[in-house]
Amino acid sequence: MSHELEVEALFDEWAIEDGAVDMAREHWARVEPVLSALAPSTGRYLEIGPGNGYALEYMARSKFASGHCLAVELSQEMARMCATRVSDLDNVEIDVESFLNWRPPAGSHFDLIFSMEVFYYFEDITAAIKKAASLLAPGGELIVMVDYYEESHESQDWAQELGVKLTRWPQARYLDAFKAAGLQAVTQEVKSGGVDEHGLTLCTRGKRT
Ligand SMILES: C[S@@+](CC[C@H](N)C(=O)[O-])C[C@H]1O[C@@H](n2cnc3c(N)ncnc32)[C@H](O)[C@@H]1O
Repeated sequence: MSHELEVEALFDEWAIEDGAVDMAREHWARVEPVLSALAPSTGRYLEIGPGNGYALEYMARSKFASGHCLAVELSQEMARMCATRVSDLDNVEIDVESFLNWRPPAGSHFDLIFSMEVFYYFEDITAAIKKAASLLAPGGELIVMVDYYEESHESQDWAQELGVKLTRWPQARYLDAFKAAGLQAVTQEVKSGGVDEHGLTLCTRGKRT
């Protein structure tokens, strides 16, 4: 089975098992302070790997309520849950595809691209950062949050526990890859909140000028 098929099967199973509710609740504690601090926008939002769609729904109902939201999700079952959450909204689309293979609508650029706990599932994180950076509109921002990175002691056994290959970068490599992708004002911080046994969440962000 290919790596992507293994990841897809894992998340299909999580979605079917319990709707990924616990995962979403734990992640929201780290994500909420980041997203709630953003200014409302009439532009375009892209979320990579939205899982059950808690952040996508928040953005579509609040910050991008007057804009447009698009999500790219590998797992059919997770995408189904996202679709249910936002079924009453007409400013959201969900594409079921791997982000790296995904072809964005011609000419589309995004004012914010966000992802929580997804990038280490990519075998080629550099390619994913480059692709996301290339999809930003001028002034647009890329925000990538991960709990699985080299300095995080708490996450070191996850690949073994999940039974899938994960890519474990040190913090500095995310910073360097953002800069190498041409992003400016690149910053990084670690965030706590929610379930502390998962360690700290690394949040890297950068803008296209
Ligand atoms: C750990 S979950 C995180 C979900 C959600 N962002 C959250 O904060 O709860 C990882 C998600 O990324 C998705 N994913 C993994 N690889 C992907 C890829 N190549 N393209 C798009 N989505 C992917 C999975 O299907 C899953 O929904």
